[in-house]
Amino acid sequence: MSGYFIVFEGGEGAGKSTQERLLAEALTGRGVTVVRTREPGGTPAGEEIRRVVLSPEFAGLDPRAEALLFAAARGEHVARVIRPALERGDIVICDRYLDSSVAYQGFARGLGPVRVRDLSLWATGDLLPDLTVVLDIDPAEGLGRFDQRDRLEAEPLEYHQQVRSAFLTLAEEDPRRYLVLDARADVSVIAAAILARVVADLDGDDDGAQG
Ligand code: TMP
Repeated sequence: MSGYFIVFEGGEGAGKSTQERLLAEALTGRGVTVVRTREPGGTPAGEEIRRVVLSPEFAGLDPRAEALLFAAARGEHVARVIRPALERGDIVICDRYLDSSVAYQGFARGLGPVRVRDLSLWATGDLLPDLTVVLDIDPAEGLGRFDQRDRLEAEPLEYHQQVRSAFLTLAEEDPRRYLVLDARADVSVIAAAILARVVADLDGDDDGAQG
């Protein structure tokens, strides 16, 4: 595969979508084809799964069922959108991916990070991002940035604190594939840091980092 796969992760209210948009605009301006997508979602079936899995209507959804739904949406997303785009040589910018399952379901929900990761690896045929940008924010601050709560946003603060430390742990374990940034910094400062890293990665590996 010759494309480049970038994922944005972070807690609620970290400003992921603003940064994804800015990066997509900057890369498009350089003449690259960019595909922007999100999880859960990104396909018609994935968006249906998103509706179910985030709906407060299903409060108390069994944690294993929840993990399987996220993995199912991810499998469909990779097969129909992400892998074909990478095979065309495009840059894929995805809002959340496998690490969200590891952090939210594996760590915070207590299902176990290894199992949850293996489930998603199976679902996606082992597709991992080339770069994961973690926008780090204290959940007490992030959750305060908006009013409406979906089923996961409505979880207690402690749950979101576990999610935050999970992302930081994952990044520490594999610094080559992660960029952790303080989400409280100025929007333009964050955007410049992300673009610099992406450009350095792309220049350093003209064949793309996908194996
Ligand atoms: P979003 O609000 O960033 O679109 O993400 C949707 C919610 O789903 C968010 O609370 C994080 C959660 N989530 C998981 O719990 N597991 C996953 O695998 C993914 C992709 C998202």
